[in-house]
Formats: sequence, structure tokens, C-alpha cells
Amino acid sequence: MIHREHLTRKFVEIFGNREMRCFRAPGRVNLIGEHTDYNGGFVLPMAIDREAAIAASIRNDRKICVFTVNLDEMAEFDLDNEWAGKKGFWLNYIEGVARILERKNIKLQGVDMLVWSDVPAGAGLSSSAALETAVGLTLTQMSNQTVDLVTLAKIGQQTEHEFAGAKVGIMDQFVSANAKAGHALLLDCRSLDYEHLRLDTTDTAVVICDTNVKHDLATSEYNTRREECEQAVERLKDYLPDIRQLRDVSITDLEKYSDKIPEVIRRRARHVVTENQRTLKAADALKQGDLAGFGRLMWDSHKSLRDDYEVSCRELDILVDIALRLDGVLGARMTGGGFGGSTVNLVKREHLEQFKEEMQSEYLRLTDIKPTILVSDAGEGASEITEVQSSKSEPLL
Ligand code: GLA
Repeated sequence: MIHREHLTRKFVEIFGNREMRCFRAPGRVNLIGEHTDYNGGFVLPMAIDREAAIAASIRNDRKICVFTVNLDEMAEFDLDNEWAGKKGFWLNYIEGVARILERKNIKLQGVDMLVWSDVPAGAGLSSSAALETAVGLTLTQMSNQTVDLVTLAKIGQQTEHEFAGAKVGIMDQFVSANAKAGHALLLDCRSLDYEHLRLDTTDTAVVICDTNVKHDLATSEYNTRREECEQAVERLKDYLPDIRQLRDVSITDLEKYSDKIPEVIRRRARHVVTENQRTLKAADALKQGDLAGFGRLMWDSHKSLRDDYEVSCRELDILVDIALRLDGVLGARMTGGGFGGSTVNLVKREHLEQFKEEMQSEYLRLTDIKPTILVSDAGEGASEITEVQSSKSEPLL
């Protein structure tokens, strides 16, 4: 987490001593339910205790001026001018949110913002969703506009589609906006109904292992997977006319009609359909406090992502294979879009130190890359950062 006093001190350094308010939104790790969100299915992520934090002060024009501490760079845009359309520019994540809000007739005022994030970029922990959600909350609150958190999540998702070219689902922004500390979030990505499920990490830790690689394929393959799922639905509709998305297909139906669809498409569909089942089972296991059962579903999820959906990579598989051999590990799987990024592991606390040591040395030995290991409690969704803050986490500085 980023402490308010560090954030405000930095703001004063850059923009001068002004009246300001601070906001934050967390990154996430998905426990199970991968590549199901854009198929109308179920996901079970939690917020992590890393976040994008913003200090902001009102201007008396319609300019949004942003300083990013992470890149040590300043950039600005004017709400009254058109988007310059500069592809791949970090400001797009911020400008996108602002433009979409305005398009929805939510009139914004100009602000100066200092943005600071400790969500590692490229680690599959949704650093961009954290930023979009924090920006949405900041811009609306600073303009005295009330926009509910579900709408803010949808605006973040739309920003990815239009301003970053990634046809992502709703999971990342949704959990960043609506998570509850100490809980995982079970989300029905079609209805957007959700439930907070208590996640007791007293004896078992959620451990994130970052491969520290991100393969170029990530965005293009992601969009391809989405199309493959749509193709599966188109084919299956000939036999199951009532289906809209893979969410509506049962395992039995898929097996029954599997020879009607091409092999690759069939495997993609099989991942999604079985992953939905696993996610609902995992939610039940969590409700019963059965983390061992939950862990078994995580292994199965990884195999399905690796073999049927083909979004894993050598480094992710190595991390999962190492975890499989270590004591006290209840489950491990790749998390997020894939092609690099992180794994999520459930590790008994009494084995945690040994887990970290072995993971570090084995992964380094096999890949020549140092992994980054992060233990995180389930964090709180987007909020204003008030003067009084309490957290068990270590401050950044
Ligand atoms: C990325 C996307 C999400 C989701 C996951 C895969 O994180 O942003 O919407 O599709 O991949 O589960």
C-alpha cells in the first residue's frame, strides 16, 4: 500500500501545497475462474494489498494534468479537445476513463493528479485495472458526481477495449472496485451478481509467484481465444439453439456435440465449460472452509489452461511444477490472462519460509530468472484514502 502522507508530500513537491483528496484502488489475483468472464461465466478473485493511489486537486479549467511517480513523467489533456489517439501511451488509461465518463454525460472538472502504483506491471495482477478504477473514483468524486462502483468497473473495461486494444472481460475492474477485505469475490459475469466469501488466511497464505516474464503474444492470443469461444457458440447453436455464451453449455452437452466442432475449438470450449464448474465447486469448498478441496481444483484449473486453453507458458508451468513438489502446498495455478505473469498458490503458513526459499532457488536454476514472491491478504476495493489508515502491510517507503 502507499501511505497517504507519502502521496500528499509528493503531490506538494510537484503541484504545490493545495487542498487535495486521495483515492486508491487495488490490483487483484484470481483464485480460480480463468478466461470465463468474457464467456458470461463465474470468477473468484480477491483484491491484493497493492494498489494504484492518487492525490488530486481541482483546477478551474477542464485540463487533466497527471504526474506519474512510477515513470517520473508529466502529461496532460484537455477535456474540451478530442483524444489525440496516441497508441500505447500510459496516459490513455486515464484519458480513456475520463472520455467515457463524459460520453455518459458525467460532466467532469479539470484536476491535477499525482498517480503512484505499487502493483507490479506485467505481473498479471491488474495494474491497469487498479489505475482505471482509481482514476474513475477520483474524477467522479472530485467533480461531485456519484457513479456507482459497478458502472466505474464497466468504464474501466471499456477503456481497455477502446484505448488499449485489449478485449478484456469485467473481472479485474469489478474486483478492484467491489472487493471486501478478508474475502474473495464470487462474481457471475453475466448478471454481475456477486457474493463476498470469507477467506481465512490465518493458517494458509495466498502466495503469488511472478515469473517476471511477459510474452508478446499476450494481447493478440487473448483476443484470439475470445474469438475461438464465440466460434464454439456459433457452431453449438445449430444443436443448442438457446445458448448465448459458453456459460450456457453443460459438460454433457459439450461431450454430446463435440464431434461437430473442430478439435482446437472443442478444447477451448471444454476449458471454459469445466472451469465454470470448478469455480462453483471452489466457491462451495471455500464456504465450507475446505481449502484442501479448493487447492485440488486449482491444480485441475492449471492443467486445463495449459492443455486445453493453451495460455500457459514454460515459466508458469515450471512454477506450478515446483509448487506441486513442495510440502504444505494445497494448490497452485497460473492466474490472469497467461503467457507470463504470475501463479497463485495456497501454502500452509508453517511451510511458507521453506516454500519461498525453494521456489526462489529452483526457478532460478531452471530458468535463469529470479521470481518475485508476494504474500497477500485479501484487500479492500476502491476507496478514498482518509487521514486514519490501518493496514498490516508494509509501507512502500
Ligand atoms: C485478463 C482479463 C480478464 C480475464 C483474465 C483471464 O486478466 O483482463 O478480464 O479475462 O485475463 O481470466
